[in-house]
Amino acid sequence: MTGANAPLLEVRHLRVEFPTRRGTLVAVDDVSFDLAPGEVLGVVGESGAGKSLTGAAIIGLLEPPGRIAAGEIRLEGERIDNLPYEKMRRIRGAKIGAIFQDPLTSLNPLYGIGRQLIETIQTHLPLSAQAARARAIELLKEVGIPGAETRIDHYPHQFSGGMRQRVVIALALCANPRLIVADEPTTALDVSIQAQIIALLKKLCREHRTAVMLVTHDMGVIAETADRVAVMYAGRLAEIGPVRDVVKNAAHPYTRGLMGSIPSIGERGHRLTQIEGSMPRLTEIPKGCAFNPRCPDRGDRCTRERPELMPAPTTQAACWQYDPAGVGTKARETVDA
Ligand SMILES: Nc1ncnc2c1ncn2[C@@H]1O[C@H](COP(=O)(O)OP(=O)(O)OP(=O)(O)O)[C@@H](O)[C@H]1O
Ligand code: SF4
Ligand SMILES: [Mg+2]
Repeated sequence: MTGANAPLLEVRHLRVEFPTRRGTLVAVDDVSFDLAPGEVLGVVGESGAGKSLTGAAIIGLLEPPGRIAAGEIRLEGERIDNLPYEKMRRIRGAKIGAIFQDPLTSLNPLYGIGRQLIETIQTHLPLSAQAARARAIELLKEVGIPGAETRIDHYPHQFSGGMRQRVVIALALCANPRLIVADEPTTALDVSIQAQIIALLKKLCREHRTAVMLVTHDMGVIAETADRVAVMYAGRLAEIGPVRDVVKNAAHPYTRGLMGSIPSIGERGHRLTQIEGSMPRLTEIPKGCAFNPRCPDRGDRCTRERPELMPAPTTQAACWQYDPAGVGTKARETVDA
């Protein structure tokens, strides 16, 4: 599967579990999506929805006892969810880059940044030390580090938070990866710096044709950066589709609530919706549609049968409203007045 239109990344029926003394917690449940080469997929959803675990499963960095219990992940057609640690470590450097919220997760405080960049470059590309250093300087310039020729010998603590995250982006791009998984890459930074870092990430990924899975709570970032958006709820995908449709014309009641709760995106004249209640704990996910206790459109079918993603007008939504048989009988108190 390496045709021009083949997906870069295929996630199929991914399930992530945590065994606990009281039983197994299913934190990511039957999640499937594709990512095309060069595409930016935004991933949103309330805290605890399973966004980070989905990203960690893809890059092979799930922390035990968390484990992939079912499903498949393919990169350029090759399965990567069941590889031995060493093989996955190589893929992680060469084909998948990672950017986390805290730049210090990726940077060793004991090394100058140049040493880390050069080591990473040499692990994945057949370059001499001198050529690798030249490439590292080039990358630092590309991510906007002024005075890259001298800054390359500085330590992480000698950089500001924003500059550090630029170094992490350079590190993630070292080997020209096909995919970058960025998990809240700007959350820890000053608001004034956040937009610059996102703009940089977007520009570089476009130039390098690197696909990005971007986990963020910031709808502004999603609206400006993503090509498509995936909405997660209680470990499942509630909706996925083109960014404009998901933000402005969502099909899933949860997405509508999520978008409605962001005043800057709610259009004038549209009533802002509020979702009552909160996302269930992993031990208390209701039968049927996980969103049913909070859903204004719920019918009796929603409490019995679990909806898979299905075609909605412009997106894919896991909601029985888009099934020909519908949601079933609506409970009285949820029927619109
Ligand atoms: N080591 C663990 N043991 C048990 N449960 C865990 C563990 N790690 C994560 N979880 C649970 O898995 C669920 C999903 O976690 P995840 O970190 O993916 O959420 P998230 O969507 O990234 O949330 P946030 O927006 O807060 O970062 C949460 O309910 C979390 O409590
Ligand atoms: S399946 Fe039913 S409960 Fe779930 S979002 Fe759709 S209408 Fe609401
Ligand atoms: Mg997270």
